[in-house]
Amino acid sequence: MSNNFISHLEDPSHPFILCDNWFTPEEEKSVWNELDYYTNLNTLQHSSLGPVATDEEGTDLASNFRVYPDRIYKDESRNTSPILSGLSKLSDTKLHSFIHENMLPGPFNNYKGTNCDSTIISYYHTGDYYKSHYDAFQFTILIWLYKEPKAFTGGDFHFTDAKISVPCVNNRLIIFPSFLNHAVTPLEFETKKPIGFGRYTLTHFFYTIPQVVEEKDNNI
Ligand SMILES: [Fe+2]
Repeated sequence: MSNNFISHLEDPSHPFILCDNWFTPEEEKSVWNELDYYTNLNTLQHSSLGPVATDEEGTDLASNFRVYPDRIYKDESRNTSPILSGLSKLSDTKLHSFIHENMLPGPFNNYKGTNCDSTIISYYHTGDYYKSHYDAFQFTILIWLYKEPKAFTGGDFHFTDAKISVPCVNNRLIIFPSFLNHAVTPLEFETKKPIGFGRYTLTHFFYTIPQVVEEKDNNI
């Protein structure tokens, strides 16, 4: 495990793990090629056109743009996506152990037991945000990316119940239990910028689908 993970347990009800410089320079270059490809081809779809979390009145909680790479790349072709290939770093057994030792004890500490993942690429341009919500998975891993120098303010991450703020830093990864409410503050540019100069997020959800246990294997 070459990355430097730092656990944050200041509020025991909101454990999270940060890792700066998540991608190596070579990996980051490949990931940016993929992001620019989606952006230049106008593949980014506004959240209002697809499934998005809503409040009790049915109002969208998010305004951003999205791409779902799992819908584009299937089976072996997933290896041709630098973003999906990056998932392999998240299955490192040393990372599993680190998460196990630095998350809540009990039923929420089951990263090792997850067996499925789902990825969303999101992009926040001026005025975009994500109001407080939780994710319907077990673990959420976010990686934030933007073109340097940073051309915007806002776009920062908050655990809304605990009032913990985590600044949006380029190439920063955060791991947290998905049930914790979280939000993204509105993003604003200091001067008008074209699409692509805002905040990208690579979201990897991890969850468990129970495996069917054959009777003969279970001695029942
Ligand atoms: Fe979320």
